[in-house]
Amino acid sequence: MSSKPALPARYEIRPLGPEHAEWAKAIVTHSNAFGSPVWSVIWPDELTICNYKVFDTLDHMIDHQIASGLSIGLFDTEYQYKRPESAATGGKLWWDTTDLSADGDKLMAQMDFPLLSVALSYDGFVPFDMSKIAPVGAVLAGFGESIHALEALDKRDPASWKPTGPGQVLMRNATATKLDEGGKGLMSHLARYLMRRAADQGFRGIQIEAYNDRVTGVWSNPPPPFKGEIVSSLNAWTWEHENEKGERAYLLRPSKQDLNKIYVTLREEA
Ligand SMILES: CC(C)(COP(=O)(O)OP(=O)(O)OC[C@H]1O[C@@H](n2cnc3c(N)ncnc32)[C@H](O)[C@@H]1OP(=O)(O)O)[C@@H](O)C(=O)NCCC(=O)NCCS
Repeated sequence: MSSKPALPARYEIRPLGPEHAEWAKAIVTHSNAFGSPVWSVIWPDELTICNYKVFDTLDHMIDHQIASGLSIGLFDTEYQYKRPESAATGGKLWWDTTDLSADGDKLMAQMDFPLLSVALSYDGFVPFDMSKIAPVGAVLAGFGESIHALEALDKRDPASWKPTGPGQVLMRNATATKLDEGGKGLMSHLARYLMRRAADQGFRGIQIEAYNDRVTGVWSNPPPPFKGEIVSSLNAWTWEHENEKGERAYLLRPSKQDLNKIYVTLREEA
């Protein structure tokens, strides 16, 4: 029996649809710009402009994962709208991306919708269009490079886990909770729900890169019978990237965050 408390009745977990894409994009953007132990540390003085820049690049990352049908969100069924105009449409994002004076709190208040937390995923056999993902890497310094570094440090035989067809390995890419709703267990409920859902859908494993200790904690300790394993790690302070010209740089300093690649086994192969 699970020792974890049940999700309070006011919250509801549902698959995300295209109608939630802008809200999901705003949550991922804002929580990373203002609450990530990596990106908000790297950009101490430019968070609002970085917030808008990231928001501009995320369409494919969000849309591809919503289109997969494998992304879920946690909604507050008792959400109190801040503006009547938002209530009229069931929620609205009010960002004005020309307003550089907006701070994190103002941008947060402008996220006037009942979606509180997201866990975005896609099928490992149906990857992103990398040409459409490239702009994300250009804005999120060190993101693509650190993902590649974690891949290089993963010493497993690729044949032992990589999908050979659809419906085998789910890729979890971007999890975020609205920052004013953090610490209530919303991400961890979503994560465990997603594990059970993916297992029910027949997936044998979930692959995730965790750039936050809470995410590492939850995904590396899944509920039995699932098993979590950290397959590679690096530290944002000590990791030195070498580019194709042989130039070396600490792309993620001054962050000191541990970055972990985690594989969750949902079902042992016979
Ligand atoms: C990281 C983030 C998604 C967490 O969302 P959240 O809803 O506040 O998280 P939760 O309240 O569910 O976290 C609680 C869980 O974290 C665990 N946790 C908390 N601190 C921890 C720590 N230092 N180390 C390990 N686990 C920790 C708790 O034990 C709990 O897990 P449990 O339910 O198994 O006991 C949110 O803070 C966020 O969006 N941050 C900014 C963006 C970001 O960093 N995204 C992650 C990229 S991988």
